[in-house]
Amino acid sequence: MRKDMIAGNWKMNATHLDAIQMVQKLSYRLNDPDYERVEVVVHPPFTALRSAQTVIETDHLRIKLGAQNCHYAESGAYTGEISPGMLSKLSVSYVIVGHSERRHVFGEVDADINRKVKAVFETGMVPILAVGETEQERADGLTEEIVRGHFVAGTSGLTQDQVSSLVVAYEPVWAIGTGKTATPEDAGAVCSFIRDLAAGSFGGSADHMRILYGGSVNPGNVAAIMAKKDIDGALVGGASLDPDTFASVIRYWV
Ligand code: 13P
Repeated sequence: MRKDMIAGNWKMNATHLDAIQMVQKLSYRLNDPDYERVEVVVHPPFTALRSAQTVIETDHLRIKLGAQNCHYAESGAYTGEISPGMLSKLSVSYVIVGHSERRHVFGEVDADINRKVKAVFETGMVPILAVGETEQERADGLTEEIVRGHFVAGTSGLTQDQVSSLVVAYEPVWAIGTGKTATPEDAGAVCSFIRDLAAGSFGGSADHMRILYGGSVNPGNVAAIMAKKDIDGALVGGASLDPDTFASVIRYWV
């Protein structure tokens, strides 16, 4: 049985002071046993992780902490980078790897993304491997080819156990921050395609691997997306910045 997961990717928003308030407000909203069916994760910027960790640990909140990126090396001459070990020491549980903004704005390529996925696992955390096609690729009928390429390269060399705990986020680039959402049918079909790919390479582990949808998820569209059998959660950008709105996304079944 795969547990639902709703993760908020704050991107380059929120100072460490904002983060304290956002996490505290979110935890008030989640103060209801109903919410326990969902694993809730927030991904603040690096500079806010320590503050968010302190609030979560001091107040014993059930919110998990995630990072938005990391480097694949453990230490060394990589000016400006953050290692997986630095994140795990901050009680980070999940690291987004290969987000489309990393791929398209910062030029990350599949080989580096695969090294990051492995490094995150080796440090005892879980990667959220992001995959997805651009608008032009979709128009050209290349959605499955692109998603297959991202998934196969990103998971190359993983063990079946690792794939069981892996999280994949299907985020069509054209739906990110645009207000355009994939229809639940289209999103569900691509997520089923990803699970089939995983089953082909990693057997029964694919049944345990969680697949999230991301791209303009909001309180109004989340229920229809979550109803799809191969969608286990959402990776939420803009709608995760306001704790009230994010709590409504998390409580998607109401
Ligand atoms: P939006 O929800 O703002 O479209 O962002 C999605 C995203 O990129 C999450 O990682």
